[in-house]
Amino acid sequence: MSTSKALSFKIQSECSTSRARVGRMKLPHYTVNTPVFMPVGTQGTMKGILPDQLENLNCEIILGNTYHLGNRPGVDVLKKAGGLHRFMNWNRALLTDSGGFQMVSLLKLAEITEEGVKFRSPYDNSEIMLTPEKSIEIQNYIGADIIMQLDDVVQTTFQDYDRIKEATERTSRWLDRCLKAHKRPEEQNIFPIVQGLLNPELRKQSALEHMTKDVNGFAIGGLSGGEAKDDFWPMVSLGTEILDKKKPRYLMGVGLAIDLVICVALGVDMFDCVFPTRTARFGCALVNKGQLNLKQKQYETDLNPIDKDCECATCKNYTRAYLHCIVSVETVACHLISVHNIAFQMRLMRTMRENITNGTFPKFVKDFVNEVYADKN
Ligand code: GUN
Ligand code: ZN
Repeated sequence: MSTSKALSFKIQSECSTSRARVGRMKLPHYTVNTPVFMPVGTQGTMKGILPDQLENLNCEIILGNTYHLGNRPGVDVLKKAGGLHRFMNWNRALLTDSGGFQMVSLLKLAEITEEGVKFRSPYDNSEIMLTPEKSIEIQNYIGADIIMQLDDVVQTTFQDYDRIKEATERTSRWLDRCLKAHKRPEEQNIFPIVQGLLNPELRKQSALEHMTKDVNGFAIGGLSGGEAKDDFWPMVSLGTEILDKKKPRYLMGVGLAIDLVICVALGVDMFDCVFPTRTARFGCALVNKGQLNLKQKQYETDLNPIDKDCECATCKNYTRAYLHCIVSVETVACHLISVHNIAFQMRLMRTMRENITNGTFPKFVKDFVNEVYADKN
């Protein structure tokens, strides 16, 4: 049990045939119903959506990125504003990622050493060193309810065993440095990140080491790079088998509907992904089976809503044909589709919570998988 009171997690229902559970995660700014999906607002804003609209969509926790926020507005402004919650007018729960992952995935030139992640700023090309201590310092100023350790991330398609082993072990050493640097343990929770890519032994070792730390929750990382499902789902299962059942477990960077359903069954409580809002900007609307690209000609005369079962403002008021008509000329289309996509993720999570509570989750999973793979058999 952790000594910090910054998080309490109460499991309310458990599925009798899978590891799925419904919980309430009490955080300093808000109590979050789990399993939960967290939309990503990189620069202190959810592109195309305002904080009160997110509240109306029943969004309880969102994610921000340390690296972007550390650059703009920067720590001085965040300090002056009294943290990101006040600065962006978001009163519910907030989680920040530590920054290293964004560097490695955005900037191919990032160089990782024992000290930290070195890269050139895309803003002014200056050399920046993001150390575990620096990441936690910035995250302490941002003030999110949950903050992430800096981890050593390797590309998922990377196969070199020695490098994966080095990254996994370094992530454990960086965790110790992050925990030591953390100045606000009574208000903010650090989550360690399990690494080890697709190697079961390294993943096991990483999860077991993290389990010895005094923390309130855990994350599973290194699995958002488009691996085959048969490789990816067993690694999630391995993580949730080892990580403390009484604490929330967060799978990073995963947000496809089918992955959310399978991974909730594997015992994951939290997810984040840029996908729902990013794909909206390309005119794509989420449905159970995947997405509809509203730019396609087939929607030109289609007077149905995106999804007839969806209760979002977009589906209630607009047709596919209308969205098709404005999607290439109007940013308002991006807004309308983003609203639907976030509503879609929220509804899927709520439906899963209801099914777990009612004891009907196994049937829900079976029906969902059948629907998604119906055309593929
Ligand atoms: N987002 C998606 N995957 C990861 C990961 O492995 N580490 C971090 N820090 N963020 C992520
Ligand atoms: Zn909708």
